[in-house]
Amino acid sequence: MISDEDREKVRAATDIVALVGETVVLRQRGNEFWGCCPFHHEKSPSFHVNPQTGLWNCFGCHQGGDVFDYVMKRESLEFPDAIRYLADKAGIELVEERGAQSRGPKRNRLVQALDEAQSFYETMLMRGRGDGPASARSYLSGRGFGSTVCSKWHLGYAPGRGALVSHLREKGFSQEEIMAADLAVDRNGRAQDRFYERAMFPIHDEQGRCIGFGGRVMGDGKPKYLNTRETPVFHKSKHMFAFDYAKESIAAKGFALVVEGYTDVISLHEHGFTNAVATLGTALTEDHVKTLSRFAKTIICMFDGDSAGQGAAEHAIQYLDKTEASLRCVVLPDDLDPAEFLDARGPEALEPFLADAAPLVDFVFDKRLAGVDLSTPGRRVAALDEMTTLLAPLKRSVLLDGYATRLADLLGVSVEETKRMIREKPSAPSTRQVPPAAPPSAPAPVDAGPAPLSSVLSLDDRMQLGVERELLTMMGASPDAWRAHAERISSFSWTDARHQAIAWAILATPDGTSPQDAVKAATEVCPDAPRILSSGELAVTEGLPTRGKVAFLLDDMDLFSSKRRVRAIKSELEGHVEADKVDSLFQEATDLQKHVNQLKSRISDMDSYRKNG
Ligand code: UTP
Ligand code: MN
Repeated sequence: MISDEDREKVRAATDIVALVGETVVLRQRGNEFWGCCPFHHEKSPSFHVNPQTGLWNCFGCHQGGDVFDYVMKRESLEFPDAIRYLADKAGIELVEERGAQSRGPKRNRLVQALDEAQSFYETMLMRGRGDGPASARSYLSGRGFGSTVCSKWHLGYAPGRGALVSHLREKGFSQEEIMAADLAVDRNGRAQDRFYERAMFPIHDEQGRCIGFGGRVMGDGKPKYLNTRETPVFHKSKHMFAFDYAKESIAAKGFALVVEGYTDVISLHEHGFTNAVATLGTALTEDHVKTLSRFAKTIICMFDGDSAGQGAAEHAIQYLDKTEASLRCVVLPDDLDPAEFLDARGPEALEPFLADAAPLVDFVFDKRLAGVDLSTPGRRVAALDEMTTLLAPLKRSVLLDGYATRLADLLGVSVEETKRMIREKPSAPSTRQVPPAAPPSAPAPVDAGPAPLSSVLSLDDRMQLGVERELLTMMGASPDAWRAHAERISSFSWTDARHQAIAWAILATPDGTSPQDAVKAATEVCPDAPRILSSGELAVTEGLPTRGKVAFLLDDMDLFSSKRRVRAIKSELEGHVEADKVDSLFQEATDLQKHVNQLKSRISDMDSYRKNG
């Protein structure tokens, strides 16, 4: 708890005009300061701040409040965190914190020491004499980081040999403070520089203050990166490299890019992807996800290689229901990391990978099932066992139904059975405990019955199948709700001809037809209709209002149908096509791909709406 006294101290220490002025251009008129409202779009100022009362208000969007309300809105923080944010900025130690570490140096002093260390390392890199600094400069410039880049990112060079410790002692920092900031280690009672002959990447908190470092060895030594240990101001599980630089761009673009390396982040920013951050040599944590989702609707994790990416993605499943943001994954081709990719292929080549980033669970399913022959019951059961283990962290989540249905459809097994298996698994995050399925080359046991449809269909087709069943089930239940969309529905490309026939038959009935008669009409064109019309799990659209369900299902169906058409065109183009048709097919595929991307973003918006309930 933060005391009223502390809260008021923070209020008194905060200059609201300066705070607002960080992002809004303000002009003084009388006692007040006016500017364009940061919370809605406007061209002439209706937003004003009064330094006497400490209040702000906007005549345009009718929002207003005190300095805490302002920070809550601007930074998307809860009330106590807004106080902490401003306390941090003003250098006020709240009582709640003081209790936790009453012994040991003050956090402020650590941050000051770290800041001083950053300047020291920076000066060493820019102006240091001798082989060390020269080799650091040439190493960094070889990575494409010239002096402008180095100074923007405050990159530095750590000479080691006690140089930093003596510099900080001269500046008045105690040995205790220097060690508490992990800038030095204790060697027989003496403080010794922690970083030796390394290129230094400073890590900042949200306000841009230095809180730690990653130091890269110049040659092939080990460890490649040495990171600051946990200190009172540096927490690997909470902080991210470049978050201070990326925050605004994340909010503006609506998505965040999470990568693994410091150098990757710098390259991405220098190529215009200013919404990139990196974790600090650790896997993504719940805190990271929560911090990012204050600003991002979508979080795209970009992994260096396939196998590491798969582990990291599976690990992240547990966060799916901890955030409203949609989590997506990308693996770059040829084992390239983002920096190498940008060097080799340029920034434009990266865009399509971002646009096609797969939703986390699809990514995990896809990778796990790649190359697995699902045509035998034994393989399917093994796959089901693996996948349900992966989904176990979500067993108590509202998301369970949706994912269980997807999985059941994918494997052609019952949804109830799938859910039961998930519930029986231990819910601890399951990064490495899940062994991958047996290699597909092993001899397959003899299958008893005919291969189920799902085994011969692609992942997309199997998902489309589920959507089709749900769409048909809803159409049968309320035929009139779909008539307005008849044209769109009749343009879809279906995975199953029976489904198409049923849809058309229902739409051909007159307005006011009862559900019962609609089923009858469908049965006339397809004897399987009664079974098919009751097979939709109604899980895809769970939690949406009826109108939302219609829109969501149509978009979902449109998405799969368009992707199908794109695939068809691609294979057509691979065969023999008359020259004059190539261009128009190509154009059609390009247009469809654009349409697919729009649908994807609309669907992911709906998805997050659904998660909010
Ligand atoms: P990489 O090995 O991919 O490094 O580790 P990188 O960023 O591409 O570095 P360069 O390009 O070889 O210079 C990715 C991240 O993993 C952490 C660091 O955060 C690094 O940026 N890491 C790696 C460590 O913490 N310690 C290590 O020994 C290695
Ligand atoms: Mn790398």
